[in-house]
Amino acid sequence: MKALILAGGFATRLRPLSCSRPKTLFPIVNKPLLQWIFERLAQGGVDEAILAVNALTQFYIRQHKLSKCGLKVRFSIDPPKMPLGTGGPLKKAEKLIGHNEPFIMLNGDIYADINYRELVEAHRKSGALATLALCTVEDPCSFGVADLQGNVIKRFVEKPPKGKAPSNLINAGAYILSPEVFAYIPEGRAVSIEREVFPKLAEEGKLCGHCINGLWIDIGKPQEYLEANKIVLDSISNSIKRQNPASFSLKNPVALDEGVIVGEKSVIGPYAILGKNVKVGANAQISNSVIFAEAQIADGAILNGAIVGEGAKIGRGVKLLKGCVVGDLAKVKDSVHLHEGAVICPAKEVTETF
Ligand code: GDD
Ligand code: MG
Repeated sequence: MKALILAGGFATRLRPLSCSRPKTLFPIVNKPLLQWIFERLAQGGVDEAILAVNALTQFYIRQHKLSKCGLKVRFSIDPPKMPLGTGGPLKKAEKLIGHNEPFIMLNGDIYADINYRELVEAHRKSGALATLALCTVEDPCSFGVADLQGNVIKRFVEKPPKGKAPSNLINAGAYILSPEVFAYIPEGRAVSIEREVFPKLAEEGKLCGHCINGLWIDIGKPQEYLEANKIVLDSISNSIKRQNPASFSLKNPVALDEGVIVGEKSVIGPYAILGKNVKVGANAQISNSVIFAEAQIADGAILNGAIVGEGAKIGRGVKLLKGCVVGDLAKVKDSVHLHEGAVICPAKEVTETF
C-alpha cells in the first residue's frame, strides 16, 4: 500500500524554530516527527511513502538521513513559488500513486497513534471514496469539523467560525482515499481538499469517518510543541527511565540523546528533553524544556518552560522561563534574564536582559 505525506506547508506559527526546519522534521522526544510517521506507516503495512513537499523541504529531509524503516521513499515536488495546498499535491502525485487500490494520505505535521490497518478496513467496509480519521477536541474551530451520522460524514466544514461547528469531531489529518478521488481535484493550481473536495464528497454521501482513540497531537505553536513533547515523553517514559548519575541529578521523566554531557550538581528534569551532543555546565537547572541538538547551556543557567534551538549557546547564569524560544545558533550572553514568552531569532546575539 502507498502513502502520500503532505509536508510542504510553511509552519509560520512555529517561527523562529521553523525558519530553519520544516514542521515534519521537528524533533518529538529527540526523534523527527517524520521518523515517527515512517515507523507507524511501516507497522501499518505500507511499503511506499511519497513525500509531497517543496524543494526546500526536500533539501532538509534529505539532509536528515532518516531511517526509511523498509519503506520505498519518493518525493513529489510542488512547482517553484507555487504551493499547491492540500489537494494540489495529491493531484500532482496521481501518476506516482496510480489507480490500482486505495491509499493513505497524511498531514505530515501531526503526531498520532493511528492503526492504519483498522482505518483501511473501515474504508473497505464503507465503500466510501474517502474515509477520514476523526478525533474529539474541545475547541474544533481551528480544524476541519465533521457532522457524523453512523459512519457517514453528512457535512464537512473547514475551520468554522466560533459557535458554528457542527460537532467536536475533527479531521485528524489521516485519510484513506480511493483513486476515484483524483477526478474531483482540478489540475495545475492550489486546491484545498478540505474546502473544495470533502464538502462535495459529503454532499454525494461518499465521505466516511472513523473515530480514533489513541494519542493525537497537532504541534501548531511553540507552546503546543513543548506540550506535545511532554505528552509523548510521558507515554514512553517507562521505557527510558534513567538511573540517577553520581555527579548530577536527574528527575524523571527525562530524555537524553546520545553524546549529552552534564556538569556537576546540575538538575535535569522533570520534563527535560536534551538532543544529541547537548552540553550542560555545572549547577544548571533544566525542566519543562526542549533543547535541540548541539546546543550549549553554561554553568548556573536556569531553564524552565523554554525551547532552545539547534546549536544555540546559553551563557552562565542565564534565566529562560515559560514560553521563551531561542532560535537555532542564537547566543544569549552571560547573566541575561529573558522575560516570559521572549522569542529570539536564529543566530541573534542577546546581550541585555529584556
Ligand atoms: N506539498 C504541500 N504544498 N503541502 C502542504 C501545502 C502546500 O502548499 N500546504 C500545506 N501542506 C501540508 C502541511 O505541511 C501539513 O502537513 C498539511 O498539508 C496540512 O496543512 P496545514 O496548513 O497544517 O493545515 P491546518 O493544520 O491548518 O489544517 C489541516 O489539519 C487539521 C489537523 O491538524 C486540515 O486538514 C484540517 O481539516 C485538520 O483538522
Ligand atoms: Mg497543520
